[in-house]
Amino acid sequence: MTTATSTSGLLCRQLFDRDSFTYTYLLVDTATHEGALVDPVMEQFDRDLQYIEELGIELLYVLETHAHADHITSAGLLRQKTGAKIVFSESAGIEAIDIALIDGDELKLGNYSIKAIATPGHTSGCMSYYIDDKVFTGDTLLVRGCGRTDFQQGDAQMLYDNVTSKLFTLPDDTIVYPAHDYKGRTSSSIGEEKRWNPRLGGGQNASGFIDIMDNLNLDMPKKINEAVPANVNVGVDYNPRRYVHEDFSMSDLHTAWQQLGDNEAIVDNRRAEEFAEGHVPGSINLPLGSEGDRADELKAYDKVYMYCRSGRRAQTALTNLSLIGVDNLVCVSHTGMPNWIAAGYPVEG
Ligand SMILES: [Fe+2]
Repeated sequence: MTTATSTSGLLCRQLFDRDSFTYTYLLVDTATHEGALVDPVMEQFDRDLQYIEELGIELLYVLETHAHADHITSAGLLRQKTGAKIVFSESAGIEAIDIALIDGDELKLGNYSIKAIATPGHTSGCMSYYIDDKVFTGDTLLVRGCGRTDFQQGDAQMLYDNVTSKLFTLPDDTIVYPAHDYKGRTSSSIGEEKRWNPRLGGGQNASGFIDIMDNLNLDMPKKINEAVPANVNVGVDYNPRRYVHEDFSMSDLHTAWQQLGDNEAIVDNRRAEEFAEGHVPGSINLPLGSEGDRADELKAYDKVYMYCRSGRRAQTALTNLSLIGVDNLVCVSHTGMPNWIAAGYPVEG
């Protein structure tokens, strides 16, 4: 589905990803051909790139409204391919970006200016983008709805405050473009949402809103365990095996150990006492919980293999490290040191 509108030289093309119900927006100043993409989706990379090439757009920015939990961004790929700068809220704490915005910052897009409106609440790093007569609200404000507030440092009170004090004070005829819609609706206006949004409109108060949000009982998004770690690395080099380690065993680790490169490491995520009793020769002990302190050191390697006793601690350490941008990890799953010993591989300690 595609709808296009062009007002006073700003082309706004709304694009849809059917699997995640995500809207991506292509914005172009038709006078200068400078453009931006809001919330692009990995699976739609070819579609988006085709538009950019066919319409002769100089892509200046990839604007992310937040670190998505339901799809993987193509921001990193677009940067590689077009040189566009990746823009995020500074509060999202994502390192692999080019421009970190705070509330009130402005970016130039041809003859237009994109204003950053910080709207944390759905996540702590949510940013809305206001340009011309349009506001791209991400998951903060949806058509007759809003994003959930029960994970990724969500906060219902904060979402309420930001919507009512920032978005609802924009002119009533401002067009609201959300990141998702599940019922086929494409846009709304600030005036409409102020009046008819069932959660936030009609003069809703904070406690009424929080009550609604506390009782949604939603399932976790299907892709959250792969999407969030991939998106903190702006989707670059996305390799699902890095995040879903169903099949890397201690015998695979043994092969890796035999061929270990100069700039590769093996990390043992067990406690110091367990490590002392016997570990993979040359491995580094990094008990679960301490991995965050050593993130910079780990990042410096080309590849880091992690194991523990059963795979559980290594997997948890990998998730924790992925969330802070460490993306060179391979983790042993379902097996661990007892399997190494049982296989008769060499043991140190
Ligand atoms: Fe979201």
